[in-house]
Amino acid sequence: MLEHLKDKNRAWAAKKIAADPGFFKRLEGQQAPRYLWIGCSDSRVPANEIVDLDPGELFVHRNVANLAPPQDANYLSVLQFAVDVIKVEHIMVVGHYGCGGVAAAVDGKRRGLVDHWLHPIREVHHDHRHELAALDSDKARWDRLVELNVIRQVRNVASDVFVQDAWARGQALNVHGWVYTLGDGLVNDLGVTVSGPEELRA
Ligand code: CO
Repeated sequence: MLEHLKDKNRAWAAKKIAADPGFFKRLEGQQAPRYLWIGCSDSRVPANEIVDLDPGELFVHRNVANLAPPQDANYLSVLQFAVDVIKVEHIMVVGHYGCGGVAAAVDGKRRGLVDHWLHPIREVHHDHRHELAALDSDKARWDRLVELNVIRQVRNVASDVFVQDAWARGQALNVHGWVYTLGDGLVNDLGVTVSGPEELRA
């Protein structure tokens, strides 16, 4: 089964080796990525491809609607390993316009477990209900909620004790908020980068 994927895998590995015979042998020794990507599971938002990085260059955590919930052991394990062991210099929280997870959080329909997972987005929606209500279309409200969710997750990451402790010991670490556009393949930097505890307070 899945022979077409195994064929594609063998062709991909051969292409890598043709371009750089030592490629996989070097990666076998260690990984030293400079970036942690926290993004949505959506198949249209493939982390490495979007920023054109090779295996070994990007540490990745993805879940529905790119959340960084401070009680989620999966996300926290990734964050701690990235910050304390790999010592990444940049963490990007990457949302995307047209995110079905963000829409599902606030459409009032019941889906089961995912409704609990998406709860933090309903809180963001409530906290910004006046700003959102003032926008003139559902599309504009959806786009803005995607951005507001990214900003909230940047705050979660930057206020986490692993990140706070890294800054306290003088480690260089920047937390960025990006939004990806499905329709043109481009990333938009929301300009909410946090590089230390003072900036988080601001
Ligand atoms: Co999504």
